[in-house]
Amino acid sequence: MAFTIAIAGKGGTGKTTLAALIIRELVRAGKKPVLAVDADANANLHEALGMPRPESIADITHQINNNLQPLPAGMTKDQYLAFRVHQALAEGDDTDLLVMGGPEGPGCYCYVNNLLRGFIEELSKNYPYLVMDNEAGLEHLSRRTTQNVDVFLVTSDASVRGVRSAGRIKELAESLNLGIKKMYLVVTKTVNGTLPALKEEIEKTGLELAGEVPMDEEVYRYDLEGRPLVSLPENSPAVKAVRDIMYKAGIL
Ligand SMILES: Nc1ncnc2c1ncn2[C@@H]1O[C@H](COP(=O)(O)OP(=O)(O)OP(=O)(O)O)[C@@H](O)[C@H]1O
Ligand SMILES: [Mg+2]
Repeated sequence: MAFTIAIAGKGGTGKTTLAALIIRELVRAGKKPVLAVDADANANLHEALGMPRPESIADITHQINNNLQPLPAGMTKDQYLAFRVHQALAEGDDTDLLVMGGPEGPGCYCYVNNLLRGFIEELSKNYPYLVMDNEAGLEHLSRRTTQNVDVFLVTSDASVRGVRSAGRIKELAESLNLGIKKMYLVVTKTVNGTLPALKEEIEKTGLELAGEVPMDEEVYRYDLEGRPLVSLPENSPAVKAVRDIMYKAGIL
């Protein structure tokens, strides 16, 4: 079973950046191939990884659930779903990517969701590491996976409001019974002196701090220029900080 790292946080707090830099570091350390799962409805992990965006699982389940495409002769619905899911897996050199997409339309997707759960579990057996970029609502994580989460990282920007919302995500995650083994806070886009100022708020959340990713101009510039974050240089402050976080969280 893949060692599973799930990242969640409020919008714009650096989830995708953190996911991409964790993947970069896993690959560098030879812990590959990595299965990247983009579980944010507004998917853009592929850009950070420098990969084309594959068809999303939500598009496939929508088509199948609403009988928008005839089943190929001789194929059952679940065989066809398995076939399409495998087709939607984008294969990179060291990282493969699955885009969940969403949100789901009206109607019950219970049947396809149950099947999907099994497929994702089977698929993840082929990878030593799975990294999942989630939205704050944790919708895909709660519906689509049964597997345990080894490390759950909650991101917050360097603000009091950010830290408080990280605290709420922690409570939500605990209430969903996701089989989380370790949960940590990562404060992003910090500048000198921000962490000490947030110390009291962080303590109130009960989250253990895995570290900070400092404001790194290069990260921002790569984003603006549409360059993949996985090609950030080794001496980038964000790259170094993410490596420290991974050690602290027991990922490396
Ligand atoms: N350490 C950092 N230094 C500088 N800029 C950063 C850093 N981390 C993230 N950013 C910038 O902040 C913005 C949001 O980052 P990112 O897309 O990683 O957040 P997100 O939580 O995934 O957002 P969304 O909720 O939109 O998916 C981007 O423009 C990104 O370049
Ligand atoms: Mg994102």
